[in-house]
Amino acid sequence: MADTAEKVLEIKGLDISFRSSTETIHAIRGIDLVLRKGETVALVGESGSGKSVTMKAAMGILPENAEINSGSIIYYEKTPEGEQRETDLISADKEWIRKNIRGKRIAMVFQDPMTSLNPTMTIGDQLSLSIKTHEPGLKKAMIKERAIGLLKEVGITEAERRMKQYPHEFSGGMRQRMVIAIALSCNPEILICDEPTTALDVTIQDRILELIVSLQQKRSLSVIYITHDLGVVAKVADHVNVMYAGKIIETGTVFDIFYDPRHPYTWGLLSAIPDPDSGDELYSIPGTPPYLSKEPEGDAFAPRNPYAMEIDYKAEPPMFKVSDTHYAATWLLDERAPKVSRPEAIERRIEKMKKEAADYVNI
Ligand SMILES: Nc1ncnc2c1ncn2[C@@H]1O[C@H](COP(=O)(O)OP(=O)(O)OP(=O)(O)O)[C@@H](O)[C@H]1O
Ligand SMILES: [Mg+2]
Repeated sequence: MADTAEKVLEIKGLDISFRSSTETIHAIRGIDLVLRKGETVALVGESGSGKSVTMKAAMGILPENAEINSGSIIYYEKTPEGEQRETDLISADKEWIRKNIRGKRIAMVFQDPMTSLNPTMTIGDQLSLSIKTHEPGLKKAMIKERAIGLLKEVGITEAERRMKQYPHEFSGGMRQRMVIAIALSCNPEILICDEPTTALDVTIQDRILELIVSLQQKRSLSVIYITHDLGVVAKVADHVNVMYAGKIIETGTVFDIFYDPRHPYTWGLLSAIPDPDSGDELYSIPGTPPYLSKEPEGDAFAPRNPYAMEIDYKAEPPMFKVSDTHYAATWLLDERAPKVSRPEAIERRIEKMKKEAADYVNI
């Protein structure tokens, strides 16, 4: 996707803490992110890195104890008069966001479909309710037609019969399709998917990913896709943001991140993608992320970084530019740093991915 498409959402310098009576956790430590029309941007990182909190801020659904220290989340839209309007979702009125943005222009799909579905209502009633909420004047027959259309669009067959069923009569994959149908019922511009396939087994996971990609293309949706699995990112994303301890530590196009990763943490995530062909043990990055109740000294990744230098323990690395699209926050990219090559295993992975991509294109 070209970087020239218009922006639909932009996060600038987002900084969030959680306060309790005993401590303050600095969970989000300055995030910048741009989402353009029709593209899929991935947020990837280990558990606790701040992926969900970042997107909850954009949706105005942060928990009570969260405090936004600084930053803005700009929502760009064209007014009916054709003018460009910019709204900061952080300073905007919460009620206005609920009425006009959340579940309207921006819809969200969560990991566990059961939390989004009402177990006591039929699939048809839930979908109809959602359609009615967005278009109060719509006639009953039209609502039903729309509901059936949406179920078909998300790949639910025998839609008429399915409408009378309850969520517990659906499999996990079907429930997630249903949640996606509800999200689409408002015709959103932006779809935020937070680990939507994590609870599903691998083949079902692939089907849901294919569905999201096809919906994204057909509806020109802009998608933010949250996951801890870099393998999933390769299947859906145009742009990738790798998060660690509340920061984006590497950002680039999907090609930048998969063919030329520069941050040792990204190398670790790449090694953790299961590879059925290699006999290698699945790699996991040693150690655990820092608990952010106190500011990390230097680079938050230093204690887990096999390439850490003295400077890593003293100063936080800036975002170094690799190319116009690719940036990484690691002191290894400083011109004074010793030259470090990527580990052999990562180079083998990259070669294999390039070959797979070439074979795929040639099919
Ligand atoms: N309600 C809360 N109260 C206090 N701290 C919180 C709360 N929610 C999140 N945090 C803090 O914010 C950090 C980031 O949480 P977040 O849910 O964004 O992680 P994540 O990257 O989405 O992880 P996961 O992959 O497990 O979903 C957590 O590690 C925790 O320290
Ligand atoms: Mg999360």
